[in-house]
Amino acid sequence: MALWGGRFSSNTSDEVARYSESISFDKRLYRCDIEGSCAHVKMLAAAGIIPQETADAIRKELLRIRDRIDAGDFKFDISLEDIHMHIESALIDVLGAEGARVHSGRSRNDQIALDLRLYLRDEIDLLVHGIRRFQKSLAGMAAAHPRVIMPGFTHLQHAQVVLFAHHLLAYVEMLDRDASRLADCRKRLNVLPLGSGALAGSTLPLKREMVSAELGFDAVSRNSMDSVADRDFAIEFVAAIAVFAMHTSRLSEDLILWCSQEFDFIELDDAFCTGSSLMPQKKNPDVCELTRGKTARVYGSLTALLTLCKGLPLTYNRDLQEDKIAVFDACDTAEQILAVYPPMIDSMKLKEENMRRAASDPALMATDIAEQLVKMGVPFRTAHHRVGSFVKWCKEHGRRLDEASLAEMRETIPEATEEFLNLFDPEASVAKRDLTGGTGFSQVARQISFWQSALE
Ligand code: ARG
Repeated sequence: MALWGGRFSSNTSDEVARYSESISFDKRLYRCDIEGSCAHVKMLAAAGIIPQETADAIRKELLRIRDRIDAGDFKFDISLEDIHMHIESALIDVLGAEGARVHSGRSRNDQIALDLRLYLRDEIDLLVHGIRRFQKSLAGMAAAHPRVIMPGFTHLQHAQVVLFAHHLLAYVEMLDRDASRLADCRKRLNVLPLGSGALAGSTLPLKREMVSAELGFDAVSRNSMDSVADRDFAIEFVAAIAVFAMHTSRLSEDLILWCSQEFDFIELDDAFCTGSSLMPQKKNPDVCELTRGKTARVYGSLTALLTLCKGLPLTYNRDLQEDKIAVFDACDTAEQILAVYPPMIDSMKLKEENMRRAASDPALMATDIAEQLVKMGVPFRTAHHRVGSFVKWCKEHGRRLDEASLAEMRETIPEATEEFLNLFDPEASVAKRDLTGGTGFSQVARQISFWQSALE
């Protein structure tokens, strides 16, 4: 009979046991569950609710159970539903009636809210560390190639010349916000729900502040109903992961383009590519493609969580059990991304010559001509129009922009001087973008050293 079976005359059917179990996925919470129970019994003894010897015996046995699970020496059985019941019944198996005191003043509703908060707190620390490592790889690659130029794109069309390092550092910025979103989520979730009971608190004189301090929480929750009902912290967490995955997916798309034959800007190491079962010549960027695919699954988790919660009357409803499937899948995906990307970035090879060749398209410097006119006092819209006409003239005459003579240029840009013929040097074009946030060499060098010391 189940631990809650007092008012039942028969067990749940096998089908229902299989339908309602969560042990297959919530067993990963065992360390958090045990950590929470240890703090709980310590408090129960301090509050005089259970004898000190009982608390000590329970703590000792809980740690033994933890070691057994660590060692794979613990039997999980769907008839015990979830991780909480497994641990409580293992405790009672050994300690009998004394073990049966552990659940005093507690419900699985506040227990699971606690476990998940503890789990996500550690997970966030792990992921933030991984994101820092990822940023280091990108910043390191930027530092190793501070002068490599390439075309920058808008609409996937050649736009202006940029530094490859500047492109990579754009992702370092995005990842930085991802880490700070996770850190922010951690602040809000670091509140103790235990002591909320099933929904209304407890008649026992629980010392919640003590448990909170013991478990390293910043505060005790103010409303027991909120504490057992809401999963906004899990939604926030998965939302932060979704944004992180989206950023990584975008980087992946850049890498996929760059290693295509059409771009041919980089080569990924063999360790991060796979071949074709049919076409012998193929080397495919599958890791990057899988990231685009896995990102879709993370979005699915976020949608699942939002949908899971939107129609639930207060307070706890069993629907909430499904939250962990979505949360854990998002955790696993983020961890996998963070395991694969830093070494993939570290080992990628640049084809600098190809990048430079692509960046030598003089059309990339069209804006520089317009801005030169602005410096001479021509209103920007007029300047834009003149350079546009020049581009059209070149196209009609089958010339590149740098293949027109000054006289020819003057047909559409009357203000043009000798100097204008020197505006097509891609390095010079980059160098001139010397303002905060720009792709100029000295600005990017500043950003590289900023990130390198920030990530120390
Ligand atoms: N396994 C449950 C969950 O994950 C724990 C809480 C169950 N509470 C209950 N009253 N059935 O949500």
